[in-house]
Amino acid sequence: MTSADRPLISSLDLAPQLYSVRAARRYATAAFQSWHVPAGTVDNAITIISELAANALRHAAPKPEAEAEQPAGRPVASACTLVLQLWPAYLLILVCDGDRRLPVLRHPSRDAESGRGLQLVDELSEAWGYALPEPAAGKVVWAQIMLPDLSEQEPERNSATGRPALPWELMRSGAAPET
Ligand SMILES: Nc1ncnc2c1ncn2[C@@H]1O[C@H](COP(=O)(O)OP(=O)(O)OP(=O)(O)O)[C@@H](O)[C@H]1O
Ligand SMILES: [Mg+2]
Repeated sequence: MTSADRPLISSLDLAPQLYSVRAARRYATAAFQSWHVPAGTVDNAITIISELAANALRHAAPKPEAEAEQPAGRPVASACTLVLQLWPAYLLILVCDGDRRLPVLRHPSRDAESGRGLQLVDELSEAWGYALPEPAAGKVVWAQIMLPDLSEQEPERNSATGRPALPWELMRSGAAPET
């Protein structure tokens, strides 16, 4: 359960290869599933995660510890970190990298081959931005996605009483708990 001041948090270090985008997508899909995030929100979140992770891997320097030489055949240190936070009303996606250069929202021409990633993030999110936390060497790029307001959905009703159905009344079979 989330509370107003404490989100659910999950994070994944990404190796400095573009295939890490796929790992980020898979990881986030599993986290959202375990958090019961609604499907439409998941689709948007996964698109945003793909764009932010790809940007960190393509445009930003790795986090300092990833620059250390890796012994042959050993896993490489992470280039960036994906952090997912589930708050009561929204999802927060954060991608931390090791570079102080900032993301720039571009306005590419119709035939340009790149420069659309952040436009997509801008369209699919409620808000996005970046932070330069001290004393870290890099930055955090974040995007916020609102969750559907479940409190405004019409509750299912008990056909006999007309009142909102109680949880066990919605179950097709199985005994009601003792009261
Ligand atoms: N994490 C980052 N670190 C440094 N620069 C970034 C980062 N993310 C984005 N940028 C800068 O912002 C620009 C716009 O990013 P955007 O994702 O919109 O386009 P793109 O990555 O160049 O192309 P596309 O995403 O369409 O393949 C990039 O070209 C890059 O200069
Ligand atoms: Mg991009």
